[in-house]
Amino acid sequence: MVDLLKANTKKAAEILKNSKYTVAFTGAGISVESGIPPFRGKDGLWSKYDPAILEINYFYENPGKSWEVIKDIFYNFLGKAEPNNAHYVLSEMEKKGLLNAVITQNIDNLHQEAGSKTVFEFHGNSKVMLCTKCAKKYKAEQVDLNKLPPKCDACGGLLKPDFIFFGEGIPQDAYLNSFAEAEKAEVFLLTGTAGLVQPAASVPVKAKQNGAVIIEINPERTAFTEEITDVFLQGKAGEVMTLLRQILFQK
Ligand code: APR
Repeated sequence: MVDLLKANTKKAAEILKNSKYTVAFTGAGISVESGIPPFRGKDGLWSKYDPAILEINYFYENPGKSWEVIKDIFYNFLGKAEPNNAHYVLSEMEKKGLLNAVITQNIDNLHQEAGSKTVFEFHGNSKVMLCTKCAKKYKAEQVDLNKLPPKCDACGGLLKPDFIFFGEGIPQDAYLNSFAEAEKAEVFLLTGTAGLVQPAASVPVKAKQNGAVIIEINPERTAFTEEITDVFLQGKAGEVMTLLRQILFQK
Protein backbone atom coordinates (compact mmCIF):
# COMPACT_ATOMS: atom_id res chain seq x y z
CA MET A 1 0.00 0.00 0.00
CA VAL A 2 2.75 2.41 0.94
CA ASP A 3 4.41 1.87 -2.48
CA LEU A 4 1.09 2.66 -4.19
CA LEU A 5 0.71 5.81 -2.07
CA LYS A 6 4.30 6.86 -2.89
CA ALA A 7 3.79 6.24 -6.61
CA ASN A 8 0.49 8.17 -6.63
CA THR A 9 1.99 11.02 -4.60
CA LYS A 10 4.85 11.29 -7.14
CA LYS A 11 2.22 11.46 -9.90
CA ALA A 12 0.31 14.15 -7.95
CA ALA A 13 3.51 16.15 -7.45
CA GLU A 14 4.21 16.15 -11.21
CA ILE A 15 0.65 17.32 -11.93
CA LEU A 16 0.94 20.09 -9.31
CA LYS A 17 4.35 21.27 -10.61
CA ASN A 18 2.95 21.60 -14.14
CA SER A 19 -0.30 23.28 -13.15
CA LYS A 20 -0.75 26.97 -13.97
CA TYR A 21 -3.63 27.41 -11.49
CA THR A 22 -4.19 25.12 -8.49
CA VAL A 23 -6.90 25.36 -5.81
CA ALA A 24 -7.14 23.37 -2.55
CA PHE A 25 -10.62 22.40 -1.33
CA THR A 26 -10.63 21.28 2.32
CA GLY A 27 -13.03 19.81 4.86
CA ALA A 28 -13.06 18.80 8.51
CA GLY A 29 -10.63 15.92 7.90
CA ILE A 30 -7.67 18.27 7.39
CA SER A 31 -8.12 19.48 10.99
CA VAL A 32 -8.51 16.03 12.60
CA GLU A 33 -4.75 15.82 13.24
CA SER A 34 -5.08 19.20 14.99
CA GLY A 35 -7.42 17.54 17.48
CA ILE A 36 -10.73 18.73 16.01
CA PRO A 37 -13.10 15.80 15.39
CA PRO A 38 -14.78 15.47 11.97
CA PHE A 39 -18.55 15.67 11.61
CA ARG A 40 -19.01 12.29 9.91
CA GLY A 41 -17.20 8.95 9.86
CA LYS A 42 -15.24 7.48 12.80
CA ASP A 43 -15.73 9.54 16.03
CA GLY A 44 -17.79 12.02 13.99
CA LEU A 45 -19.53 14.83 15.90
CA TRP A 46 -22.88 13.98 14.32
CA SER A 47 -22.72 10.56 15.99
CA LYS A 48 -22.62 12.37 19.38
CA TYR A 49 -24.75 15.44 18.74
CA ASP A 50 -27.95 15.92 16.79
CA PRO A 51 -27.14 18.21 13.82
CA ALA A 52 -30.64 19.69 14.29
CA ILE A 53 -29.17 21.92 17.04
CA LEU A 54 -27.29 23.67 14.27
CA GLU A 55 -30.50 24.30 12.32
CA ILE A 56 -31.09 28.06 12.18
CA ASN A 57 -34.76 28.00 13.30
CA TYR A 58 -33.93 25.72 16.24
CA PHE A 59 -31.19 28.19 17.24
CA TYR A 60 -33.61 31.15 17.36
CA GLU A 61 -36.29 29.11 19.15
CA ASN A 62 -33.91 27.47 21.66
CA PRO A 63 -30.88 29.78 21.90
CA GLY A 64 -29.81 28.53 25.34
CA LYS A 65 -29.88 24.82 24.44
CA SER A 66 -28.32 25.43 21.04
CA TRP A 67 -25.55 27.54 22.55
CA GLU A 68 -24.66 24.81 25.10
CA VAL A 69 -23.84 22.43 22.25
CA ILE A 70 -22.23 25.13 20.08
CA LYS A 71 -19.89 25.94 22.97
CA ASP A 72 -19.13 22.25 23.50
CA ILE A 73 -18.40 21.52 19.85
CA PHE A 74 -16.75 24.72 18.63
CA TYR A 75 -15.51 26.78 21.55
CA ASN A 76 -14.14 24.37 24.09
CA PHE A 77 -11.20 23.72 21.72
CA LEU A 78 -11.03 27.43 20.73
CA GLY A 79 -7.43 28.60 20.81
CA LYS A 80 -6.19 25.09 21.69
CA ALA A 81 -6.24 23.62 18.18
CA GLU A 82 -3.06 24.39 16.20
CA PRO A 83 -2.54 24.01 12.45
CA ASN A 84 -0.99 20.64 11.54
CA ASN A 85 1.49 19.75 8.77
CA ALA A 86 -1.27 19.61 6.17
CA HIS A 87 -2.20 23.27 6.77
CA TYR A 88 1.47 24.29 6.74
CA VAL A 89 2.24 22.45 3.48
CA LEU A 90 -0.66 24.23 1.72
CA SER A 91 0.65 27.57 3.04
CA GLU A 92 4.18 26.74 1.80
CA MET A 93 2.81 25.68 -1.61
CA GLU A 94 1.09 29.08 -1.88
CA LYS A 95 4.31 30.92 -0.94
CA LYS A 96 6.24 28.94 -3.58
CA GLY A 97 3.67 29.59 -6.30
CA LEU A 98 2.26 26.06 -6.42
CA LEU A 99 -1.14 26.96 -4.94
CA ASN A 100 -3.39 29.91 -5.79
CA ALA A 101 -6.22 29.63 -3.25
CA VAL A 102 -7.77 27.52 -0.51
CA ILE A 103 -11.54 26.99 -0.39
CA THR A 104 -12.43 25.57 3.00
CA GLN A 105 -15.65 24.30 4.55
CA ASN A 106 -13.95 24.57 7.95
CA ILE A 107 -14.63 27.40 10.38
CA ASP A 108 -11.54 26.83 12.59
CA ASN A 109 -9.30 29.52 11.03
CA LEU A 110 -6.38 27.05 10.92
CA HIS A 111 -5.48 27.77 7.27
CA GLN A 112 -4.99 31.46 8.11
CA GLU A 113 -3.04 30.58 11.27
CA ALA A 114 -0.75 28.38 9.13
CA GLY A 115 -0.04 31.40 6.88
CA SER A 116 -2.35 30.82 3.91
CA LYS A 117 -3.26 34.20 2.42
CA THR A 118 -6.04 33.48 -0.11
CA VAL A 119 -8.66 31.53 1.83
CA PHE A 120 -12.37 31.43 0.93
CA GLU A 121 -14.49 30.29 3.91
CA PHE A 122 -17.56 28.62 2.44
CA HIS A 123 -19.20 28.18 5.86
CA GLY A 124 -17.84 31.25 7.68
CA ASN A 125 -15.51 31.43 10.66
CA SER A 126 -15.95 30.64 14.37
CA LYS A 127 -13.51 33.36 15.51
CA VAL A 128 -16.14 36.10 15.02
CA MET A 129 -19.57 36.49 16.63
CA LEU A 130 -22.35 38.79 15.49
CA CYS A 131 -25.29 40.39 17.27
CA THR A 132 -28.44 39.09 15.53
CA LYS A 133 -30.19 42.42 16.29
CA CYS A 134 -27.69 45.25 15.67
CA ALA A 135 -25.02 43.27 13.76
CA LYS A 136 -22.26 44.42 16.13
CA LYS A 137 -19.17 42.21 15.62
CA TYR A 138 -17.23 40.56 18.44
CA LYS A 139 -13.98 38.58 18.59
CA ALA A 140 -15.14 35.15 19.88
CA GLU A 141 -12.42 35.00 22.55
CA GLN A 142 -13.75 38.26 24.03
CA VAL A 143 -17.26 36.87 24.54
CA ASP A 144 -18.02 35.40 27.97
CA LEU A 145 -19.47 31.92 27.34
CA ASN A 146 -20.06 31.18 31.02
CA LYS A 147 -23.46 32.81 30.68
CA LEU A 148 -25.48 31.33 27.79
CA PRO A 149 -26.85 32.46 25.45
CA PRO A 150 -24.37 35.36 25.09
CA LYS A 151 -25.96 38.77 24.59
CA CYS A 152 -24.87 41.97 22.85
CA ASP A 153 -23.47 44.55 25.28
CA ALA A 154 -24.79 47.32 23.04
CA CYS A 155 -28.42 46.30 22.48
CA GLY A 156 -29.01 43.09 24.47
CA GLY A 157 -29.57 41.09 21.27
CA LEU A 158 -28.68 37.38 20.91
CA LEU A 159 -25.12 36.71 19.71
CA LYS A 160 -24.51 34.12 16.98
CA PRO A 161 -21.20 32.66 15.73
CA ASP A 162 -20.29 34.02 12.29
CA PHE A 163 -20.54 30.61 10.65
CA ILE A 164 -23.57 29.34 8.78
CA PHE A 165 -26.14 27.06 10.34
CA PHE A 166 -28.14 24.46 8.45
CA GLY A 167 -30.88 26.35 6.62
CA GLU A 168 -28.78 29.51 6.15
CA GLY A 169 -27.37 30.72 2.84
CA ILE A 170 -23.65 30.55 2.01
CA PRO A 171 -21.79 33.88 2.47
CA GLN A 172 -22.18 35.46 -0.98
CA ASP A 173 -18.56 36.47 -1.55
CA ALA A 174 -17.28 33.01 -0.57
CA TYR A 175 -19.87 31.38 -2.83
CA LEU A 176 -19.08 33.52 -5.88
CA ASN A 177 -15.31 33.37 -5.37
CA SER A 178 -15.33 29.59 -4.91
CA PHE A 179 -17.21 28.90 -8.13
CA ALA A 180 -15.00 31.43 -9.94
CA GLU A 181 -11.96 29.45 -8.72
CA ALA A 182 -13.62 26.26 -10.01
CA GLU A 183 -13.81 27.88 -13.46
CA LYS A 184 -10.12 28.88 -13.44
CA ALA A 185 -8.45 25.89 -11.81
CA GLU A 186 -6.35 23.40 -13.74
CA VAL A 187 -5.99 21.25 -10.61
CA PHE A 188 -8.20 20.86 -7.50
CA LEU A 189 -6.57 19.30 -4.45
CA LEU A 190 -9.39 17.86 -2.26
CA THR A 191 -8.41 17.12 1.32
CA GLY A 192 -10.46 15.76 4.22
CA THR A 193 -13.99 16.12 2.95
CA ALA A 194 -16.72 13.50 2.63
CA GLY A 195 -18.29 15.54 -0.18
CA LEU A 196 -21.79 15.12 1.25
CA VAL A 197 -22.89 18.68 1.98
CA GLN A 198 -24.32 21.00 -0.66
CA PRO A 199 -23.71 23.47 -2.19
CA ALA A 200 -20.05 23.10 -1.11
CA ALA A 201 -19.73 19.66 -2.70
CA SER A 202 -20.71 21.12 -6.10
CA VAL A 203 -17.56 23.26 -6.26
CA PRO A 204 -15.11 20.41 -7.03
CA VAL A 205 -17.67 18.90 -9.43
CA LYS A 206 -17.78 22.25 -11.29
CA ALA A 207 -13.98 22.27 -11.47
CA LYS A 208 -14.02 18.74 -12.92
CA GLN A 209 -16.64 19.76 -15.49
CA ASN A 210 -14.31 22.61 -16.48
CA GLY A 211 -11.51 20.15 -17.13
CA ALA A 212 -9.59 20.37 -13.84
CA VAL A 213 -7.55 17.36 -12.70
CA ILE A 214 -8.81 16.21 -9.28
CA ILE A 215 -6.32 14.99 -6.64
CA GLU A 216 -7.93 13.69 -3.44
CA ILE A 217 -6.40 13.02 -0.02
CA ASN A 218 -8.50 11.00 2.45
CA PRO A 219 -8.02 7.84 4.55
CA GLU A 220 -11.41 6.65 3.22
CA ARG A 221 -12.98 6.60 -0.23
CA THR A 222 -15.68 9.30 -0.50
CA ALA A 223 -18.55 10.48 -2.71
CA PHE A 224 -15.90 12.25 -4.79
CA THR A 225 -13.53 9.29 -5.19
CA GLU A 226 -15.72 7.28 -7.56
CA GLU A 227 -17.24 10.31 -9.30
CA ILE A 228 -14.51 12.84 -10.06
CA THR A 229 -11.15 11.90 -8.51
CA ASP A 230 -8.25 11.33 -10.93
CA VAL A 231 -5.48 10.65 -8.38
CA PHE A 232 -6.54 9.22 -4.97
CA LEU A 233 -3.91 9.53 -2.21
CA GLN A 234 -5.28 7.24 0.49
CA GLY A 235 -4.04 8.39 3.89
CA LYS A 236 -4.21 11.02 6.60
CA ALA A 237 -3.78 14.60 5.40
CA GLY A 238 -0.83 15.36 7.70
CA GLU A 239 1.09 12.28 6.57
CA VAL A 240 0.30 12.48 2.86
CA MET A 241 0.99 16.21 2.69
CA THR A 242 4.37 15.68 4.38
CA LEU A 243 5.24 13.07 1.74
CA LEU A 244 3.98 15.40 -1.01
CA ARG A 245 6.12 18.24 0.37
CA GLN A 246 9.25 16.06 0.31
CA ILE A 247 8.65 15.16 -3.32
CA LEU A 248 7.71 18.72 -4.34
CA PHE A 249 10.49 20.65 -2.61
CA GLN A 250 13.31 18.32 -1.59
CA LYS A 251 15.00 18.06 -5.03
N1 APR B 1 -6.95 13.32 7.09
C1 APR B 1 -7.74 13.51 6.00
N2 APR B 1 -9.07 13.24 5.98
C2 APR B 1 -9.60 12.74 7.12
C3 APR B 1 -8.84 12.50 8.29
C4 APR B 1 -7.46 12.81 8.24
N3 APR B 1 -6.66 12.62 9.30
N4 APR B 1 -9.68 11.98 9.24
C5 APR B 1 -10.91 11.91 8.68
N5 APR B 1 -10.86 12.35 7.41
C6 APR B 1 -11.95 12.43 6.40
C7 APR B 1 -13.09 11.47 6.61
O1 APR B 1 -12.79 10.23 5.96
C8 APR B 1 -14.23 12.21 5.90
O2 APR B 1 -14.25 11.90 4.51
O3 APR B 1 -12.50 13.72 6.53
C9 APR B 1 -13.85 13.68 6.08
C10 APR B 1 -14.71 14.39 7.11
O4 APR B 1 -16.01 14.45 6.59
P1 APR B 1 -17.04 15.44 7.29
O5 APR B 1 -16.90 15.33 8.76
O6 APR B 1 -18.36 15.21 6.64
O7 APR B 1 -16.47 16.87 6.94
P2 APR B 1 -16.83 17.81 5.73
O8 APR B 1 -16.87 17.05 4.43
O9 APR B 1 -15.93 18.97 5.84
O10 APR B 1 -18.34 18.29 6.12
C11 APR B 1 -18.88 19.35 5.36
O11 APR B 1 -20.77 19.40 6.88
O12 APR B 1 -21.70 19.45 9.00
C12 APR B 1 -21.31 20.23 7.93
O13 APR B 1 -20.71 22.49 8.04
C13 APR B 1 -20.23 21.20 8.32
O14 APR B 1 -18.39 22.04 6.97
C14 APR B 1 -19.07 20.86 7.39
C15 APR B 1 -19.76 20.18 6.25
